[in-house]
Amino acid sequence: MSNPTDPRQLPGADPHTGNRKVDPVTGYDTTGHDWGGITELNTAFPKIVISALALTFLYSVVAWILLPAWPTGRDYTRGLLRLDQEEQALRGFRDLSDGRQGWVSRFQGGEFDALQADEILMAKAMPAAERLFADNCAACHGTNGQGGPGFPVLSDDSWLWSDKPEDIMSIIQHGINAEDPDTRYAEMPAFDWMERPDRIALAELVADLPTGSADFGSSVGTLFTENCSSCHGETGAGGLEIGAPSLTDEAAIYGQDPETVMQTLRRGRRGVMPTWSDRLSDAEINLLAVYVAQLGLRGGGTR
Ligand code: HEC
Ligand code: HEC
Repeated sequence: MSNPTDPRQLPGADPHTGNRKVDPVTGYDTTGHDWGGITELNTAFPKIVISALALTFLYSVVAWILLPAWPTGRDYTRGLLRLDQEEQALRGFRDLSDGRQGWVSRFQGGEFDALQADEILMAKAMPAAERLFADNCAACHGTNGQGGPGFPVLSDDSWLWSDKPEDIMSIIQHGINAEDPDTRYAEMPAFDWMERPDRIALAELVADLPTGSADFGSSVGTLFTENCSSCHGETGAGGLEIGAPSLTDEAAIYGQDPETVMQTLRRGRRGVMPTWSDRLSDAEINLLAVYVAQLGLRGGGTR
């Protein structure tokens, strides 16, 4: 059972050799414990683990010296490198907001032509405007300004009111039919008193207005002139000055099919666009005005 080539088993090599139990198969010492014939080898702790531990210890000593490490009451040791991540983070944040402040404040004055002509500024500002739009306007006007029932499309180039950034700005600022002393009032009266056949004829005329095929010489044309022209204009072109939206272009708040127009005539309309002057800064409102005006130019509307 002995292995004469193993130096640990040579007599006299080790004073404790006599008490040692050696595993006959591997030649290693055993711990001497025996569980029903199973013994545990007494192998050396692996060198690689020891070196790894030594390395990590060494690293921590170096890190203590170079980096911020030990708390000292209210302060802490700074380390030879004097790194301060808090200061770094604050500096980064300050640079970022200085950069943003720089271009956002250019929108303060609202010189829209100059702003729109500055391509570098636009490249920075439009992505920010898109986020502002998503946060504040998309709930009603759709993510890309594509509108929805009761909420006008902003992404086509036909407008209820105006395509000029300065007009769009004042709409965003004061809203439409909103709680704001300078809001735009836009109320379509109900025509429920009118004979139903007349309303049906009018609804059909209005539905034809965008196609240009409406006949104002007819009796229903006269009905339009007598009842509607005072607000929507002779030919239904509407406009900012006379205070009612255009009925001649594709843009519609509610829809210009005969059924929807019948509803409009029966109940009247008073759409509300909220006021933003108390929620957004002037610069942000001007930024949005430019963005919305450009949405229209880019096209992509669904109607
Ligand atoms: C609560 C819903 C709602 C929200 C939010 C909203 N709007 Fe409106 N907006 C409307 C309605 C309704 C109208 C049409 C009002 C009318 O003429 O009766 C409108 C009209 C407009 C118009 C006029 C469109 C045209 O064709 O002339 C513009 C421009 C506009 N909104 C921009 C915005 C912007 C920018 C925001 C975000 C800051 C915004 N809206 C947020 C409901 C909303
Ligand atoms: C007192 C002014 C006034 C008169 C008169 C008037 N309208 Fe209007 N009309 C408005 C206003 C303002 C709106 C926009 C309502 C809103 O913003 O919600 C409107 C909206 C409409 C709309 C909805 C447009 C859309 O975008 O969906 C239709 C259709 C319409 N009017 C048809 C008529 C017809 C037809 C008559 C005549 C029988 C008429 N209106 C008379 C002021 C008027």
